[in-house]
Parts: sequence; structure tokens; C-alpha cells
Amino acid sequence: MTNNRLALITGASAGLGAEFARQYAEKGWDVALTARRADRLDKLAREIEEKYKVATLVITQDLALQKSVDSILHELKEAGRHVDALVNNAGYGLPGTFFNTSWKEQAQFIRVLYTAPIELVHKLLPGMAERNFGRIINVASLAGYAPGTGGHTLYASVKAGLIKFSESIHAEAKDAELDIHCTALCPGFTFTEFHDVNGTRDMANESPKWMWMEAGPVVEAGIDGVTRGHPVVVPGAVNKGVATLTRILPEPLGRELMKRQSKRFRKMEND
Ligand SMILES: NC(=O)c1ccc[n+]([C@@H]2O[C@H](COP(=O)([O-])OP(=O)(O)OC[C@H]3O[C@@H](n4cnc5c(N)ncnc54)[C@H](OP(=O)(O)O)[C@@H]3O)[C@@H](O)[C@H]2O)c1
Repeated sequence: MTNNRLALITGASAGLGAEFARQYAEKGWDVALTARRADRLDKLAREIEEKYKVATLVITQDLALQKSVDSILHELKEAGRHVDALVNNAGYGLPGTFFNTSWKEQAQFIRVLYTAPIELVHKLLPGMAERNFGRIINVASLAGYAPGTGGHTLYASVKAGLIKFSESIHAEAKDAELDIHCTALCPGFTFTEFHDVNGTRDMANESPKWMWMEAGPVVEAGIDGVTRGHPVVVPGAVNKGVATLTRILPEPLGRELMKRQSKRFRKMEND
């Protein structure tokens, strides 16, 4: 048992989640890593323990399962640990339209990207309030700002929902004068396994390189933002520019632009 603070990171087996784990560990935090691929989590845990000399806890869970959040919290309790920072990061894109995807796929998507993160916040907040310390990062997306388009139907909706949810939790904690910060991190294109998993790597490779960020600076902006108490963080100058455009463009024009652009990175088929 250590006296270090603990960060619980979902989707820690790859991409932004693994980078969150490394950056929190580098700051001297213990990390609890959760995702489905146990081998990846174990490897990362060994790397982090060796390099940063902090404690790690691996919790293998599929967030699509109804009981997954309770199971994660149970394992933390068994280990005698409470959560000081929660990074709701696990996610993926679901190619196809609403017509050609099954309800099972959509329901799992909502569960992993929206219900599970919100349930984790709801169940961890009372402890954070009692200790008067909590840092929550909800990994949303620039897509949460942009108008909805055809393909990957619910992606923009759940990410927009996470942004609003984060703003509300931020406001409620402030009203209650608690040292709890909640931040929605809104990355644009980021080099991770995201586009390999949803089968859009070839399409994504055609977007200009200046639109892309490495995971390191994205995560750094998220941790810095939650530390400072910013409710929403858009990392990088290009992404900030896009976020501003979505607010100032007339809605029909914004929709038309997004429709044209999204054809380059959203798949309408789901095979
Ligand atoms: N990369 C981008 O361009 C980009 C842009 C904006 C926002 N984002 C957001 O950033 C977050 C992280 O994505 P990433 O880019 O780092 O993608 P990634 O490299 O594919 O990593 C996704 C992570 O989510 C986990 N995950 C997926 N389904 C899960 C499930 N059912 N249960 C538990 N864990 C699950 C994966 O672990 P397992 O497969 O081992 O379960 C993996 O660790 C996502 O919320 C994504 O929407 C990404």
C-alpha cells in the first residue's frame, strides 16, 4: 500500500489511455488500468512500475457489460484503494448508418462511451466529495462540437453529451465549493489505434498531417486543464480553430462543410 494518489484510467490498453497512465505515473501517481485486453494492461503495468516506481492495479473489464462498473469498483475496494482521478477514456467508432447497424451494436456503443463513464462519475463522486478532492477527465471529441453527419451516427451525440455533462459536473462541484474538477477533453485527429479499430485508417491517412496530433500533447493538455479547473479543453491550435469555426459559422454552412469533410473519415458501411 502506498500514500500516492490513484488515477483510474479506462481504455488504458492503447492510445490516449496508455499515455494518460504514463503521464500520471510520471507525476508520482499510482494508476489503476482497465480495458478488455489483459496482456496489454499487464505489459503496460510492468513498464510503468519499473520506470516510475509507482504502484499499478490491472482490472480487466468489458465496459459493454452491465455490471462492469460495479466490478471495477469492487476490485478497487478489495485492493483497499480509492480513486482520486478518473479518466473516462475508453472508446471507439462504430462505422455504418443507423439503418445498417444492429440495436445491439448501438446499445453497446452507448453503454461504453456514455452510460459507463457517467455511472463511474456518479459512483465515485460521493467518495471524492467526502475527501474533498477529485479530478475527472471525460475524453470527448472535437466531433462533439461539430454538426452531426451521416455515418458513425451516435459518435457526435455521445461526445456532445459528454461535453455538456462535464460542464454540469464542473458547475455543481463549484457551487458546492468542493475541490473537484471535471474536464471534457476534446481531441481532433490523434495518432492512436482508433482508426485501425474502426477500419478507417486508409481514409484517415488521406487527411493532411497538420490536422493530426500525437497522443502526448493531447494528454498533457487534458491533465493540465483538469488541474487548473477548466471545464472544456480543446488541445492544439488547429483543433481550437475548428472548434471556434463551429461556433461562428451559420448552421446550414457548418452542416454542409461537415457533410463534405466527414465523407473523408466516416464509413457508411459497417462491414
Ligand atoms: N484518436 C482520435 O483521433 C480521437 C479523436 C477524438 C477523440 N478520441 C477519443 O479518445 C478516446 C481514446 O481513443 P484512442 O484514440 O486512444 O483509441 P484506441 O487507441 O483504439 O484505444 C481505445 C481504448 O478503448 C478501450 N475499449 C474499447 N472498447 C472497450 C470496451 N468495450 N470495454 C473496455 N475498454 C474498451 C480499448 O481497450 P480494449 O480493446 O483492450 O478493451 C483501448 O484501450 C476515445 O474515447 C475516442 O473516442 C480519439
